[in-house]
Formats: sequence, C-alpha cells, structure tokens
Amino acid sequence: MQGVYVKPVSGAKGEIRVPGDKSISHRAALFGGMAHGETHVSNFLLGQDCLSTLRCLNQLGVSWERQGTEVWIRGEGMDAWQEPVDVLDAGNSGTTMRLMLGVLAGSPFAVTLTGDASLRSRPMRRVTDPLRQMGAQIIGRQGGTLAPLTMEGGQLQGQTFRTTVPSAQVKSAIILAGLRASGETRVLEPALSRDHSERMLRGFGVEVQSLGTESWVRGGGRLTGQTVLVPGDISSAAFFLVLGSLVGSGELILKDVGVNPTRTGILDVLQGMGADIELSDVLDVCGEPRATLRVRPSRLKGIEIGGPMIPRLIDEIPILAVAACFAEGETVIRDAAELRIKESDRIRSVADGLNALGAKVEELPDGLRIHGQPTLRGGYANSLGDHRLAMAWAIAGLLSEEGVSVENMEAAEVSYPDFLTVIKQVAK
Ligand code: S3P
Repeated sequence: MQGVYVKPVSGAKGEIRVPGDKSISHRAALFGGMAHGETHVSNFLLGQDCLSTLRCLNQLGVSWERQGTEVWIRGEGMDAWQEPVDVLDAGNSGTTMRLMLGVLAGSPFAVTLTGDASLRSRPMRRVTDPLRQMGAQIIGRQGGTLAPLTMEGGQLQGQTFRTTVPSAQVKSAIILAGLRASGETRVLEPALSRDHSERMLRGFGVEVQSLGTESWVRGGGRLTGQTVLVPGDISSAAFFLVLGSLVGSGELILKDVGVNPTRTGILDVLQGMGADIELSDVLDVCGEPRATLRVRPSRLKGIEIGGPMIPRLIDEIPILAVAACFAEGETVIRDAAELRIKESDRIRSVADGLNALGAKVEELPDGLRIHGQPTLRGGYANSLGDHRLAMAWAIAGLLSEEGVSVENMEAAEVSYPDFLTVIKQVAK
C-alpha cells in the first residue's frame, strides 16, 4: 500500500488552535489590496490557496510583507492596480479566481487568470455571465466559461442578479464589481451563503446592505485599510469535532474558532446527531463571532439534511459523511449537487472512498445516503488532490479498525498545512 498510513487510536485529548479561516484570509488580503492605507492581518492562513491570492496581488502591483501569519498590505486603492505582465495563477483556489474576476471587472486593463487542472475544470459562467452583463469583456475556453480566462475590465453598470445556487464566491464577485459600477448592484440568492464579504467590507468602511438573502451596494465606495484578526477556520475545526465525537475517550478543546451563523451548520448537524459539543467565550472581533468549542465522545445517530442548511456546511460534507458512517441508522444529505463541482466531485469521491474503506454509502444525484455501522474496516484511500478528502480520510483512519493509507495526503496543505502534526499531538 502507498500513501501516508494513519493508524487507529483509542483516544484524543488536547487543546488545538486551528489555522485562520480560509474565506476570511482571502478577503482580508484582497480588500487590503483594494483599500487606501495599510491593512494588518493577523492569523492569516498560510494554506496554498491564500498564498495564491497574495501572489496575484503582488503581480497586480500591490505590495505586502509577511512574517509568519502576520501580513501587512500597503493598499493604494483599486485605481493603483497595474496590468500584470504575466498570467495570474490562482492554483487550486476557486475563491481567488472568482473574487479577483469581480474586482478586476472594473480595472481598465487586460488580465488572464488560470489555475491548476481542478480549477480549470470548475464552472466560471456563474461569475463571467453577470460580470459581462455589467460591462466586462471576458473570453476563455468553452465560450468563456472555463479558465484560463482573459478579462478586459472597464466601465460597469450596476444591475440586479437573481442567482440559482447559493454561492458566496459568486455573490462576492458581483458585489466587488458593484463597488466600481455606476448605480446600485443587487444580488438575490435562493438561500443565504457565507456573508464574510459583506461583514468585512463594512469594516473597511463600505456601505453594504443586506436583508435576508439579498445584498446590495452602491458604486463608488472607498475602502480604508483596517486591522483584521482572522478567527480559526470552522471548516478545519470540523475534522476535530468529528474525531472528538467518535473516538473512544478524551476531550478536545478548539480555541478561537469562527462561529459566523452562515458557517455553523456543522455544529447544528453534529449536535442534532447527538454530539457533545459546547461553545464558550463567544466574542465578536472585527465583525466576526468566534468561540471556544469543547467536544467529548458520544453516540451519534443518523440525520436528514437539505435545503438552506447545505450552504451553511457545504465544505464540511466529506467529514460529516465520515461521521455518518459510525452513526446509528441512516443519514441522508440532499440538495447538495454543488458538491460535484468542488475541488473534486465530492459526491462521487466521498461515496467511492468510504465504500472502499468498508462503509455503506449510496451516491444520490444531489447528495449521499449513508448507512451507519458500528465500525469501519479501513484500507486505502486517495485524496484525488482534494484537501478536504485528504483530511477526511485521515480522520477515518484514526477511527477505523485497521487504519487508512492516504494517497496524496499533501493536498491538505491547501487549507491546513500542519494537519498531521496536530493529529500526532492529540491522538492517544
Ligand atoms: C467560499 C465559498 C464556497 C466554499 C469555498 C469558499 C468563499 O464556495 O465552498 O470553499 O470563500 O466564498 P461557493 O461560493 O462556490 O459555494
């Protein structure tokens, strides 16, 4: 067998500080680059995705300095951005590509954005169509719907868009373009997606209005450099919430985890399954609530989820599926067809991966049906280059009978570079 072997453990104990939130780190860097004056970001995520955003900013003429997880960005406003002399590479990061397209739609120069094989296969029409309607010119593969994409930005007109899937990347791209458009730009979503852009833009001094699933902005807003303290990423904490719930003994304490209500679906669902998770020290910093989470072992039961819950835990579904393998009864996840166009087709890859480890998982067109069993055999699993699968397979290994050899474990570096080191520290 190949890959990194993760052996079964009987307990997990300790205090963990998960790395900074990926979505918030991207936005802090990007808005810092758009702002006037210095932005200081603390606890910036050093995952490959957020480093891609910093590199792209550099190529656009924005200067920044980094020492560990502290980043200082010297913003001179969006009008100071320069035409890059080479292609911008967003790597594996959908957020970098889609948010950058939104900002660059109002820049009067040409720019080409590309990414790795996974990102080049992910749908971009959801951002290119609205940005074109606002006035940007975009060409690319397959009618300008797949990267590499070349954009020539310029004068934009504000519009109202009714999106068909809840997506914070699409909503943010439109709002960011709206900041540089004439008049008002409005986005109505079918369900509320994460609202980090709206919260942080307000912190940078821009008036963004929100009501329910609707957000709008008037063109001409000016961003002023800020201090941003990034909370721990609940999507990274989710792996430890599942480990701490299903391992034989112990207790895990997760400090300073972001608990923005648009992201806490995983807490609601695990608690609904019977998990023993407690929140304390809830505190609002820089417009984002954060808390300490304590998790102890418990017996989980199956659950049915769908509808507006899905965008609140979309990135946590792979690890939730691992939890469901051990829950009593059946777990059904619906309305999650978006999973098919993430870093991998996460419906197929989760079902195939878990079944190969001895689980009973059925693939549904828009989700998964998982029949819980008392144990999971283990074996071999491939991350397929998808960071969240790599970490889900590692947690499955810790909870399994025989352990799991995870092929392409290094994919975890996209969002959690120290993941295996932390696992070694808490595993007993
Ligand atoms: C993100 C939004 C979500 C999420 C992704 C990060 C963001 O994607 O899955 O990991 O930072 O805005 P969608 O906007 O495609 O739903």
